[in-house]
Amino acid sequence: SEIYLDGLAGRLPPFTTDPTALEASARERMEPGPFWYVAGAAGSGATARANREAFDRWRLVPRMLRDATVRDLRTTVLGTELPAPVLLAPVGVQSIVHPDGELATARAASALGVPMVLSTASSHTLEDVAEASGDGPRWFQLYWPNDDEVCAGILKRARAAGFTTLVVTLDTWTLAWRPHDLDLSYLPFIRGVGTAIPFSDPAFRAGLATSPEEDPVSAVLRWVSLFTGTDRSWDRLPFLREHWNGPIVLKGVQHPDDARRAVEAGVDGIVVSNHGGRQVDGAVASLDVLPEIAEAVGDEIEVLFDSGVRTGADVLKALALGAKAVLVGRPFAYGLAHGGEEGVRHVLRGLLADLDLTLGLSGHRSPAELTPESLRRA
Ligand code: FNR
Repeated sequence: SEIYLDGLAGRLPPFTTDPTALEASARERMEPGPFWYVAGAAGSGATARANREAFDRWRLVPRMLRDATVRDLRTTVLGTELPAPVLLAPVGVQSIVHPDGELATARAASALGVPMVLSTASSHTLEDVAEASGDGPRWFQLYWPNDDEVCAGILKRARAAGFTTLVVTLDTWTLAWRPHDLDLSYLPFIRGVGTAIPFSDPAFRAGLATSPEEDPVSAVLRWVSLFTGTDRSWDRLPFLREHWNGPIVLKGVQHPDDARRAVEAGVDGIVVSNHGGRQVDGAVASLDVLPEIAEAVGDEIEVLFDSGVRTGADVLKALALGAKAVLVGRPFAYGLAHGGEEGVRHVLRGLLADLDLTLGLSGHRSPAELTPESLRRA
């Protein structure tokens, strides 16, 4: 109602939250390098398009006279209480989008009580982001380094800084073929190296002949070498368990057999995700594999979902198909580009309001009421 009342009082929103218009308006504001790093995808973009098309193939079936005037969107995921079944996906190097980067995002998320999953590739140190998130929930995403000592060191810092839940991304042990970034030579990273990745961590500075500020290319290569070509396998998961005493979530699962292996490995949750179509070009839409994965393991571990969520209706569809909560990526990065903390807050508030209204108007009082029966194939 605050949003509607502002409109009636003539206070216009700072920018649109229509997903297509938001991307177009971000494109006008952002330098091509950062814009395409956010908007771009792997190869031909087929997977990113498929992610969106998959949502269009499902339709909600509204139910009437069920008194949904009072709704409760709250849910609990792995011990974290969420005001709504929505989290901010890990998005790296946010300072190429806005100088305040992850600090702004953390403040906006915390103000609404929404968990932000902080990326290993954060532009600001995890300690600074932890502080910016105040009382808000703290989740940390790990790109699993090929050096165990570096890995243990990062996890130790994250625990000490109050992060409770670890999200381990499996699908990015090397960066995909991303034509837009190659065309622009990954310029935003090189130019913004002092701020794009927090080289304040001794692990990232070790082995460098000169400072990252003096020799950004070597610094970036050293960073990349720590996180690519890792020989990680299911057998190595106990190492993470040894170094993390909170819930562990595996991000990037797309096959029910991998989901079952995650259960056998004793992790607490998975994110059904294809990284927003940024890794395997031509891959199946993330939403299309959600039902079979939820069916396989939904009773045993928490199943989260991302890739392509843009509207309240999208959130409801993912929940109906078996997700406990969803993560959203690009839209909040566009909000960040528009206005830092306020911009992220605006995008997030809009999404939560849309979710709340669409939930109620379709005849539901809480996310838990959604089942596959709430949908029809278009
Ligand atoms: C990402 N994503 C990502 N994932 C991750 O585990 N660690 C990371 O550092 C990043 N970085 C990143 C940067 C940018 C610019 C984007 C757009 C995405 C993937 C992200 O967490 C999520 O899986 C997708 O963004 C979800 O798809 P949508 O919502 O963008 O369609």
